[in-house]
Amino acid sequence: MTTIRILPEILSNQIAAGEVVERPSSVVKELVENSIDAGATSITIEVIKGGKSLIRVSDNGVGLSRDDAILSIERYATSKIFNKEDLFTISTMGFRGEALPSIASVSKFNLVTRTKDSDIGTRIEITGGKIRNVSDAGAPVGTMVEVKHLFFNTPARKKFLKSDNTEISHIADAISGMALGNPHIRFRLFLNGKLQKNFSLADDLFQRTMHVLGRDAADKLYELKFCDSFIDIHGYCSNPLVTRSTSSKIFLFVNNRMVYDRGLISAVFQGYKGRMMKGRFPLGVFFIDIAFDQVDVNVHPSKREVRFFNSQRVYKALSETIDNALSIAQQNMTAYSKVSDLQTGFVFPQKTAELGQIYKVEQSLIEFPADRPGNEKNTGQKQSLGQNHLERPSDGSSEMKILGQVMGTYILVEIKGILMLFDQHAAHERILYEKLKHRYQSLKVQSQTLIVPETLELNCREADLLSKILDDLSALGLVIEPFGGTSFVVKAVPSIIDEKEIKPVILEILEKALVKKDGFSKDDWLEKCLILMACHSAIRANLNLGHGEMVKLLSDLEQCENPRHCPHGRPIMISWSKKQIEKLFKRLV
Ligand SMILES: Nc1ncnc2c1ncn2[C@@H]1O[C@H](COP(=O)(O)OP(=O)(O)OP(=O)(O)O)[C@@H](O)[C@H]1O
Ligand SMILES: [Mg+2]
Repeated sequence: MTTIRILPEILSNQIAAGEVVERPSSVVKELVENSIDAGATSITIEVIKGGKSLIRVSDNGVGLSRDDAILSIERYATSKIFNKEDLFTISTMGFRGEALPSIASVSKFNLVTRTKDSDIGTRIEITGGKIRNVSDAGAPVGTMVEVKHLFFNTPARKKFLKSDNTEISHIADAISGMALGNPHIRFRLFLNGKLQKNFSLADDLFQRTMHVLGRDAADKLYELKFCDSFIDIHGYCSNPLVTRSTSSKIFLFVNNRMVYDRGLISAVFQGYKGRMMKGRFPLGVFFIDIAFDQVDVNVHPSKREVRFFNSQRVYKALSETIDNALSIAQQNMTAYSKVSDLQTGFVFPQKTAELGQIYKVEQSLIEFPADRPGNEKNTGQKQSLGQNHLERPSDGSSEMKILGQVMGTYILVEIKGILMLFDQHAAHERILYEKLKHRYQSLKVQSQTLIVPETLELNCREADLLSKILDDLSALGLVIEPFGGTSFVVKAVPSIIDEKEIKPVILEILEKALVKKDGFSKDDWLEKCLILMACHSAIRANLNLGHGEMVKLLSDLEQCENPRHCPHGRPIMISWSKKQIEKLFKRLV
């Protein structure tokens, strides 16, 4: 016979903690949300050793009386809902009445609080869920919660915690999200005693967004605005050219609560459809407000998931709002680019300099005779373009006839009865990549010192990673120096790369390394950097090329060791033999 028992309260709190408190960032999220619900205008978060030794959240909210403070650490004690009806009109961050008891059951927990009606505050000390002491305490109006030695009594959980830097970056992400949702509140984050983030009171949503998404995205943000009787959408989304390799910079809010919802992320992608490269993620802050009875926030104890009663309508509204904002921005850009080609970094072929963009990008390489076609010492096996070795192209008289550029992106060529299409971006990427590599191998790296050094503001994990590879990067001509905390300055960049492109390149390198579990070897790093530099400097699709430029591109490609694939592995050319074409036309069966 089984015996059924009611679990002791501490144990049931620890079980609840399993769902509510996954890691230090969940503690930060719950405590800060409590401060927001308490009407605080200033919230300070202090973290030591990634939150494993200490998390302290102090606020200037309404505080708690002694009786309420004692109640607050009881399970199912909440001041935020009273009856069933309230559950369907939740406007506060918390409502389940389980965060504090859960956290207190798996840590050494202190709460100090005072209301404005009382001269003396209250201090409660709890260890592993057991109240050790309740006493008077001198304290300002507001609440301070201290969580020490998280999971000290649940070693299995403790084992799952990651490095301090990983935990810190989760904490920073959680705070960024809450700061975006509450621009009227000041947030400060101290890591190991040092001020790390300071979201000031003067911020509006745009300033907070710039602060959180980073300066490289800031001048390329588009405003989102849509409102009807069902839904209100507002926020900012990034230009499709500013992307990341993960979804970590997509912040979604439903009725001001930061949520994670796959459907909403897909809707964001739908809005960007056709404008962004596969595998890339946009950046943005998306606020969706709908009637409280249209959404259920009580789906999971962490309150990160929501359920919409009419999800398709929500998703459609979001993707259309994004699509509209991007279309409008694009229309404006066409007119703009006419006067600002040079400023935006796009150089269209000019009649006076027929080699246009290709020439410009490769100027620095031309200075090195060893790099010129025909002079270099190729080490690898050289492949040729198709079975028919490409003759050096000239104006149509030789084997190869350049028929022209199609769709602004592909070069159409006829060689000995074979019709070929070359992807101009992929081809240029391959050429630059091989030249950079030769240059690096023969240590002829040329870098140009920046007159105004670029600063990089990174998160802790990125900073940690970057500091480990500074020497390797300088071997590539990319000179970066630490600038205190998680900031760095870029002092010099390889001359092949436009200095405007350097930030996205560095961020992309770091992002790629962060998602790769076992990290990169030194050679991987160099390879990745070369590929990214080549990719960012190569001419784009949708760039009209003059005849001379096409000739140069194909002739340089012919000199490459591997003229068939771009450094990412995509094909550079596709071809059809006369026979294949005749089959398509059913001349041959
Ligand atoms: N910083 C604070 N300032 C004032 N009151 C607080 C603070 N933190 C907690 N409280 C009080 O303690 C109660 C319990 O907090 P707790 O986080 O455990 O539950 P909740 O916020 O009501 O719901 P949830 O479990 O969903 O977070 C709150 O309802 C609130 O009344
Ligand atoms: Mg709460």
